Amino acid sequence: MFAFSIYFLAVCGIPLVYGHAEACRYPYRRVGNNCYLINQEKVTADTAFAICIRHGTHLANFETLEELLLMKYELKKMNTGSSFFIGGRNVNRYISGGDWRWIQKGKMTKMAYFDFDSNEPNGSFARPQDCLLLNGGRSYNFRSDDCDAYSIGFICEK
Ligand SMILES: *[C@@H]1O[C@H](CO)[C@@H](O)[C@H](O)[C@H]1NC(C)=O
Repeated sequence: MFAFSIYFLAVCGIPLVYGHAEACRYPYRRVGNNCYLINQEKVTADTAFAICIRHGTHLANFETLEELLLMKYELKKMNTGSSFFIGGRNVNRYISGGDWRWIQKGKMTKMAYFDFDSNEPNGSFARPQDCLLLNGGRSYNFRSDDCDAYSIGFICEK
């Protein structure tokens, strides 16, 4: 019985571990515990939301500061200087400063920390800035921008 268990683990355990590693292959990359596609193709935030979903992923959510700091470190190492849309969005323009959420698979998780740059977010009801990007020119701090006019890279998460 013991010998059989070892055999079972060897035969069935390894493909499971291997399968997990396979799931985050190039062009995706593992950062911390998550698997991302850092895409430098320039599109609007609304297009980026749709592209990620059509690939079975979602525009990256950084619910914890740890996840965000690991991504900022990765982007600084890549040294592209580019900015990237991520999956945060203001869901209420009537509230001053907005109501910022992480959008993923029908869930809208309230942002639990504030990483916006100075004078950000700066949308208003008259001039909405409801989408969220990591600003390459400003240490990848959060910046709000138009969802359907401004085109930059974007980060999908599996
Ligand atoms: C928000 O700030 C950015 C950068 O300072 C500026 O380019 C943009 O026009 C501002 N947006 C609004 C709606 O004031």
